[in-house]
Amino acid sequence: MKNYNRPHGHYWSFKTILQDLRLHEDDIYCEVGCGGGILLNMAMSKVKKGKAIDHSKDMVELTMQNNRRDIEEGKLEVIQGNAEQLPWSAGSVTACASANMFFFLKQPKPMLREVFRILAPGGRFSMVTMKNGFWAKITFGWLYALKLYTDKEMASMLIEVGFSNVKVETKAGIMQACYGEKKSDKEVQNQEVSAAK
Ligand SMILES: C[S@@+](CC[C@H](N)C(=O)[O-])C[C@H]1O[C@@H](n2cnc3c(N)ncnc32)[C@H](O)[C@@H]1O
Repeated sequence: MKNYNRPHGHYWSFKTILQDLRLHEDDIYCEVGCGGGILLNMAMSKVKKGKAIDHSKDMVELTMQNNRRDIEEGKLEVIQGNAEQLPWSAGSVTACASANMFFFLKQPKPMLREVFRILAPGGRFSMVTMKNGFWAKITFGWLYALKLYTDKEMASMLIEVGFSNVKVETKAGIMQACYGEKKSDKEVQNQEVSAAK
């Protein structure tokens, strides 16, 4: 548990997610698998409101300790629950993140579908996981039986659940940064007009 108060090995993923999401003061941010709430804390300084979920009671408590002020001020809601059934309504967030959690999911698509559902049109999603490759196989992937995917598989899944502007890139042979957007209403309209021509 101490590790999740200062998850030194995770700061690259936090930086990548914050760079990708370009959070601003109108954003409603959501984090799936928030652990000790350190990325959440960094994100909350930039946004209007936040929501976070983790299935571990201990992690939810740690996140609440690390984000007490935002919770007391009514800016942040932290829930114990499953990434595959997010407890929020469709279109209720504008930016969503997940760091170092996706590889624990036995089935990859339910969580991605849920993230897509809760994002408002124009919303952004950024996630860091591990790529299925040599380095993962000889280190953590093997050790913890993680569910890992190639960049191509990950991009296909994101596109399949509806994301556009998808970008999947692996750094240092192992850290896989994934990004996608939900089309804005205007983009959907333009697409329909082009298709009708
Ligand atoms: C390796 S930790 C990463 C925590 C944090 N995101 C970070 O990068 O420091 C993975 C987290 O995902 C949570 N988790 C795993 N499976 C989950 C699920 N199905 N639903 C919600 N949370 C889950 C774990 O409880 C844990 O807090």
